[in-house]
Formats: sequence, structure tokens, C-alpha cells
Amino acid sequence: MSDYVTEIRHPLMQHKLSLMRSKETTTDNFRRLLREISQMLAYEVTRDLPLEFVTIETPMATIEAPTISGKKLCVISVLRAGNGILDGMLDLLPAARVGHIGLYRDPETLEPVEYYFKVPDDIAERLVIVVDPMLATGNSAAAAVTKLKERGATSMKFVCLLAAPEGIKVMQAAHPDVPIVTASIDQCLNEHGYIIPGLGDAGDRLFGTK
Ligand code: URA
Repeated sequence: MSDYVTEIRHPLMQHKLSLMRSKETTTDNFRRLLREISQMLAYEVTRDLPLEFVTIETPMATIEAPTISGKKLCVISVLRAGNGILDGMLDLLPAARVGHIGLYRDPETLEPVEYYFKVPDDIAERLVIVVDPMLATGNSAAAAVTKLKERGATSMKFVCLLAAPEGIKVMQAAHPDVPIVTASIDQCLNEHGYIIPGLGDAGDRLFGTK
């Protein structure tokens, strides 16, 4: 599992995540913390982007300076909580294209049901970063990635805030070519498909619903 999943153990990230987990944390702080953590997730998920050297002139000298090369980026938000990660990602990757996939979890079967799908036409030419804060059963994430593959995406990574071992297993079985970056691998799922210890319902906490 270790090559497949990157769990970021940075102290700042862990501290902010602990604040997010607390049930006392208010909606505005939760939203701000997720945005900040997502910037760090963006930093990690882009760690191996290829570079090329271009000639630039500083005020002092002419140099061969490294710049990002290769595929352009596309961030896909799995609605609705994915939008909380999207904002932080775009802070660091402002030129990325954006797509949205709407899936809800059937409360009985816990299976994903699609209600919205809008992604850039040239997704096949881009490195696609799929974002959803909670990798719980893994069914929605796997379904979203399957949909994106059907649209031609060939190069993908999945970014979440918390991952349950059960969800990682489902993703790795379905999409071993889509590595996962997360702030924490949590203990397990409860009988309702919630991550333990988790942070509750990410969408509700992000948008102040319920
Ligand atoms: N979705 C959430 O928002 N929280 C969980 O714990 C699991 C899925």
C-alpha cells in the first residue's frame, strides 16, 4: 500500500487536521483550515511534475531557469465537499482547468449515484487531480475515476484529506494506476460508512448544513 498511498506527516498539516477534526471547530474555521491543508496537498501531489529549462534574464544575469513542463493540469472536484479542496488547490495551481462530478451515496446501499458530470474536453491531454476530502468506502472515488477514464483521462492522481483503509483497498483494486495523496489514513469505517475517528460529514461541516 505504501507506494500507492502517500500520507503526509508534516507537523503543520497534522496540527491543522486536528483542529478540523474537533467538533468544536466552527464552519468558517473548518473551511479556512481545509483550504490551507489543500494548498499543502497541492504541493505534495505536484511533487514529481517534470521541469524544463528556459532561458531568462534576471536583472543580474542570464540563466537557464527551471519551469514546469509536460501535461497541463486539471482538477476534478467530486461534489460537493470536493469544492473545499478545490479552492486550496487553485491557490497554488491557478491555471489548472476544473471539472465537477456529482455523485451521492445511496444511504441504503452506500453505492454512488451520478447526478452531474462536466469536465474539460481535453482531459486526455492533462494530468488529472481528483479531489474529495473523505475516501470512505471508496465506491464514489472509484466510480468518479472510472467515469474520467471513460472520457479519456489516462494520467490521474487522487487527493483526499482522510482515507479509510477500506476505501484505499477499493481504490487500489479498481485503479492501481491512480495513486492517492492524503493527510491521514484513519482507523476504519463505522456501520454507516463514516470514517472513524474522522471529522463527521465533511460537506455539512464545510457548508454549515444539517
Ligand atoms: N463522507 C463524509 O463526509 N464523512 C465520512 O466520514 C465519510 C464520508
